[in-house]
Amino acid sequence: MKIFISGSNGMVGRNLLENEDITKHDILKPPSSELNLLNFNDIKIYLKKTKPDMIIHCAGKVGGIQANMKDMYKFFTENALMGINLVKAAKEHGIKKFLNLSSSCTYPRNYKNPLKEEYILQAELEPTNEGYALAKLSILKMCEYISREYPGYQYKTFIPCNLYGRWDKFDEANSHMIPAVIKKIYNAVVSKLPEIEIWGDGTARREFMYASDLASCVAKAIENFEDVPSVMNVGLGFDYSINEYYETIKKILEYKGSFIYNTSMPVGMKQKLLNIDLQSKWGWKPQVSLEQGIERTYQFFLGYVNDKV
Ligand SMILES: NC(=O)c1ccc[n+]([C@@H]2O[C@H](COP(=O)([O-])OP(=O)(O)OC[C@H]3O[C@@H](n4cnc5c(N)ncnc54)[C@H](OP(=O)(O)O)[C@@H]3O)[C@@H](O)[C@H]2O)c1
Repeated sequence: MKIFISGSNGMVGRNLLENEDITKHDILKPPSSELNLLNFNDIKIYLKKTKPDMIIHCAGKVGGIQANMKDMYKFFTENALMGINLVKAAKEHGIKKFLNLSSSCTYPRNYKNPLKEEYILQAELEPTNEGYALAKLSILKMCEYISREYPGYQYKTFIPCNLYGRWDKFDEANSHMIPAVIKKIYNAVVSKLPEIEIWGDGTARREFMYASDLASCVAKAIENFEDVPSVMNVGLGFDYSINEYYETIKKILEYKGSFIYNTSMPVGMKQKLLNIDLQSKWGWKPQVSLEQGIERTYQFFLGYVNDKV
């Protein structure tokens, strides 16, 4: 198959490109400098020229809680436009298979955990990432409408839990929790700092999956797309507290100091655990343990640090 992967330069995209089952296909992977998904006409021209059989949509404006709160307008507008443009252009070009990558931020805030796919849009969103979530929800719904109204079109959505891994971002403005903590603890080791601050009290729980596991899940979906549920959570099925993430990273980086808590900082939802019944029924589960994933991500980070020196 000829598969167009949007966002192939990003963390998810690069993990897909490292998966051998995916790269045995003919892959189209234009960076944003070659194809800006904010421009509908450019997408149409690109699809007409390249004629992919399938699209995997991993492009997005992605960021942590601070970036989302500060730039809600852009997080909403860019994610909505990118997704709507790409789905609409794909539909108009008769592309029958589309895998949309959404996010667990689309679930209602502080709702019943574990979160089942049917809880989507059942209550108010988490305000700190509302713009991002609304954009992602629009694309999920658009895919559902197309699959329902146009026979032969399979436009499906994965809702992955939080991800981390190789190709993560480690700069302060854009990083998610795990790369941010790796960098923070690494700096504390290098500077021999006795204490590290944790936002909140460390009891909030998060489900983080190693990104190459998501790539394996996508690889399985490509091989048998008809069997993939229309909307499916992709996750571990269990979570860890923020404290447990800090402790695991502390152990791997051999940090000897201690943690202090800043309870005046925002931490988002108390828990965001995905229900993985559909995923299990479909026959897939992740393989990489937290310790293995953190170790591999840390090795990747060391390469990143050395490149900067
Ligand atoms: N990271 C997570 O924890 C996580 C969890 C669940 C779901 N997801 C979803 O997975 C997807 C990918 O996330 P990620 O972590 O890989 O993000 P990322 O590392 O920030 O990568 C995003 C990619 O989007 C591309 N992009 C941004 N604006 C674009 C535009 N106007 N036109 C074309 N491409 C554009 C960028 O391309 P260039 O580099 O070429 O500019 C970049 O490669 C997102 O939809 C996100 O919602 C991520």
